[in-house]
Amino acid sequence: MKPNHLANQPIGIFDSGIGGLTVANALVKHLPRENIVYFGDTAHMPYGDKSAAAIQAYAVKIAHMLLQQECKLILIACNTASAAAYDLVKEYIGSKAIVMDVIAPVIRLLKENYAKKRVGLIGTRQTVNSNIYKKKVDELNLDIALSSYATNLLASAIEEFGNHHVIDTLLNVYLSDPNLQQIDALVLACTHYPIIKERIFAHYKTPLDIIDSSDIVAQAVKTKLEKNNLLNMNGDSIKHFYVSDYTETFATNAKLFFGNNITLEHYPLWD
Ligand code: DGL
Repeated sequence: MKPNHLANQPIGIFDSGIGGLTVANALVKHLPRENIVYFGDTAHMPYGDKSAAAIQAYAVKIAHMLLQQECKLILIACNTASAAAYDLVKEYIGSKAIVMDVIAPVIRLLKENYAKKRVGLIGTRQTVNSNIYKKKVDELNLDIALSSYATNLLASAIEEFGNHHVIDTLLNVYLSDPNLQQIDALVLACTHYPIIKERIFAHYKTPLDIIDSSDIVAQAVKTKLEKNNLLNMNGDSIKHFYVSDYTETFATNAKLFFGNNITLEHYPLWD
């Protein structure tokens, strides 16, 4: 196949904050040669409490910025923004770049593995109220009993405390909801939650699958790039991690989310 000169352009990733770094981390493992531009909208975090209209406005502006950085693919590494703004961002970007979200790859996984099963889902209030997973599961007639529950404080608590045992108190309350009992799998529909995956697993006394989208999404990005002849074969893996508001807490926690040393740079998108 002819080399595609666009292949050297970076992958753009964004989230409300540093939660999407869990996806960026998986992406680096699956696609070590790719250049990455990450944008965390820490000035507006958490998105889970914002209106869909506000999230759409943020998402379009961030996508515009990633386009200016010449990204070949824009990944919305946030369930809340994927639920509220994927269609709009896709329309805005048109054919200038590929746009992907974190929901479609999980729906594909559910389709392949969980027909006739009971699946629970936790996410922000905005994601759960959008009902997007249920709509997609029903549209495809997947015959999955999907019950969702908004665990709204979790993302902020994880940004504040990281993987700290104080989180167990919140989990005891949230995961005791009747909707989340006797399930075969639990979808972590927020990119912050992989950080506390083991705690969630430990909470359940009976075994269940915890569906963490980071690897699934990274694999989907790889497949998409391959199909479009856009894999970067010779890249030197240049990475930029921008945040719209810089604090030392974000800088410290970013290492936890990325699983590696990382330097955050302030990008004044809203100034
Ligand atoms: N990480 C985001 C998600 O996947 C949400 C966190 C927030 O409320 O900003 O939904």
